[in-house]
Amino acid sequence: MGCNKIDMTLKSNIIPDCLPRHIAIIMDGNGRWAKRHGMERAMGHMNGVQSVHDVTEACAELGVEYLTLYAFSTENWNRPQAEVEALMALLVDTIEKETATLMENNVRLLTIGDTNRLPEPTRSKFLQCIEQTKGNTGLKLVLALSYSSRWEIVGAVRKAIREGLREEEITEARVSGLMNTADMPDPDLLIRTSGEYRISNFLLWQIAYTELYFTDVCWPDFNKEELYKAIVDYQSRERRFGKTSEQL
Ligand code: FPP
Repeated sequence: MGCNKIDMTLKSNIIPDCLPRHIAIIMDGNGRWAKRHGMERAMGHMNGVQSVHDVTEACAELGVEYLTLYAFSTENWNRPQAEVEALMALLVDTIEKETATLMENNVRLLTIGDTNRLPEPTRSKFLQCIEQTKGNTGLKLVLALSYSSRWEIVGAVRKAIREGLREEEITEARVSGLMNTADMPDPDLLIRTSGEYRISNFLLWQIAYTELYFTDVCWPDFNKEELYKAIVDYQSRERRFGKTSEQL
C-alpha cells in the first residue's frame, strides 16, 4: 500500500508529452549487490533479471519507444569462464521465460551486438526471439550483447570502405547510418547504476547530446520507482543542444 502510494506519486510527476523517446541503461553493480547480500556473483545477475523485467514493463506502459540495455560488453568476454557461461545460460533461461511476456506487451526485441560471438544455444534462442517479436509495434527493447562502441565504430569505418564511399560522402548523417543503431534515435537519457561515473565504451557516437543520470542504486535494486525518478530528473533539465536558453 505504502509502496504503491510512492509509486503513484512519482509516476504522476512524469510529463507524458516530454518522455524520453530512447532510454539507454548501463546495468551495473550486480556483483557488489550479491557480495553485500553474502551471495555468489551469479545471484546478482539472476536478481538483475527482475529489474530488466520491471524496467521493460515500465517503459512499455509509459510509451517509451526504445530501451537499450548494456547486457554484455565486448570486454566482458574476459571475465572468468564460469561467470560468462552462467550469464549466457541466464540469457537463454530469461529469453525462454520472457518471450511470452514480450509478445503480450507488444515489445520487439532487437540487438546492436556481435551475435556471431555468442555461444550456442544463446545465439539461436536470441535470434529466434528477435524473429518471433519482429511484428510487434510497441517498445523496442535493444540488447547490447557482446557490444562495445569502439567495435561498432571500427565496423562502421570498414563498411564505409567496403561500400567505396568518397571523402565528401562522409557526413555525420552518413556515419550515423553506418552504426548498428542506424534506424534508432539517439538516446535522450542514459542511466548508469551503482555509483560509477563512466561510460565504459557504450554508445559513444550516439550520446553526444544525451542527458546523463547516475544513481548509487545497484542494478538488482533498480525498480520502476527508480526509473520514474530518473525520468522526472531528466524532465527537469534544459536541453540546449549547443544553443543558448534564449534561442530555444
Ligand atoms: C554488471 O554488473 C552487469 C552485467 C555485466 C550483466 C548484466 C546482466 C543482467 C542484468 C542479467 C541478464 C540480462 C538480460 C538482458 C536478461 P557487474 O557484474 O559488473 O557488477 P559489479 O560491478 O558490482 O561487479
